Amino acid sequence: MLPDMEFYRGRKVLVTGHTGFKGAWLCRMLVNAGAAVAGYALDPPTDPALYDLAGLDGRMESVIGDIRDLKRLKETFEQTQPEIVFHLAAQPIVRESYRDPRLTYETNVMGTVNLLECVRSTPSVKSVLNVTTDKVYLNDEKGRAFREEDPLDGFDPYSNSKSCSELVTHSYIRSFFAAEDSPAVSTVRAGNVIGGGDFAADRLIPDCVRAVRDRKVIGVRNPDSIRPFQHVLEPLAVYLLIAQKQHGNKRYAGFYNAGPDDRDCLPAGELAELFCRCWGDGAAWEARAEENAPHEAGTLRLDCGKLKRVFGWEPRWHMEECIEKVCRFSRVWLDGGDIPAEMDREIGEFLA
Ligand SMILES: NC(=O)c1ccc[n+]([C@@H]2O[C@H](COP(=O)([O-])OP(=O)(O)OC[C@H]3O[C@@H](n4cnc5c(N)ncnc54)[C@H](O)[C@@H]3O)[C@@H](O)[C@H]2O)c1
Repeated sequence: MLPDMEFYRGRKVLVTGHTGFKGAWLCRMLVNAGAAVAGYALDPPTDPALYDLAGLDGRMESVIGDIRDLKRLKETFEQTQPEIVFHLAAQPIVRESYRDPRLTYETNVMGTVNLLECVRSTPSVKSVLNVTTDKVYLNDEKGRAFREEDPLDGFDPYSNSKSCSELVTHSYIRSFFAAEDSPAVSTVRAGNVIGGGDFAADRLIPDCVRAVRDRKVIGVRNPDSIRPFQHVLEPLAVYLLIAQKQHGNKRYAGFYNAGPDDRDCLPAGELAELFCRCWGDGAAWEARAEENAPHEAGTLRLDCGKLKRVFGWEPRWHMEECIEKVCRFSRVWLDGGDIPAEMDREIGEFLA
């Protein structure tokens, strides 16, 4: 099942983290649907940044503010009076979390507390979606696919801060949002996303695109690490679907995994191989182990049975198709082409 984008027409939506990779795609989907979108985030985290390329200027309100700044965030809620809130603002990089664990916890944990405090004090809010990650689970590395009721205890500071963000949300739901007329709040634990317009450091697909642009061999740090990779539009559609369904029917609110089917949980090396084959033009990759690299999970799989049972949801694009989209988008970008048009083409194809 796909979200009903008509539902969003004319609705006031607040997206935190709108200047990021997923945020920019989500805002493009929402403004195209006719929603009145406001965003709250720091400046774009990369240069270039998809937010700057996505043609969103003038089509949504953008507030540049820190999620740790409760006063500013509250003012934004008061001014925008959102009905639906998507919380994506985060420090989302595992390696950065080893470099600066304190900032990671402050942003990802107190950021969630601040957001939910604003939800508590803003009666217009009816539906809230907190974006966490597949890394929230206690990972015994046995390769079993995690279910929603499995223990939450991510290993590194990023993963663990997102486990904490989950726990904070669970407590707020029980303590403050239990009444039938209070906002419906869900969390979604999504797998690694790939897609055009990701310029982050230390992520596989952006590393691939940078390498082919510079005609270099792609270095893959952990080629055997298995991740539930999926196209960026997959989890965004899940966020939109849950936020829509739980609005007015709290029965749908809950904690959901969102990831690909098993056949698309690939080792990073295989993904790099698919990318090289699709890109052609002599693209090649090699394993590039780093000495004293910080711990990163070897295997991560998600059981998405709940999402399928509750919503009749199915992933739409297999990995080969995802890689084709990434390569096509990246060529448009490298050729100085029309990025908003390319985004709309992909969104239209996905939602068709
Ligand atoms: N990219 C993935 O593979 C992936 C997978 C699972 C979950 N997620 C989650 O999805 C969300 C978005 O990830 P992304 O890949 O778009 O990351 P990104 O780095 O591209 O975007 C992060 C956003 O958060 C904002 N931000 C960071 N610190 C902030 C602060 N202190 N105050 C306000 N805003 C702040 C940034 O300005 C940016 O808008 C994150 O919550 C991330 O944990 C991402």
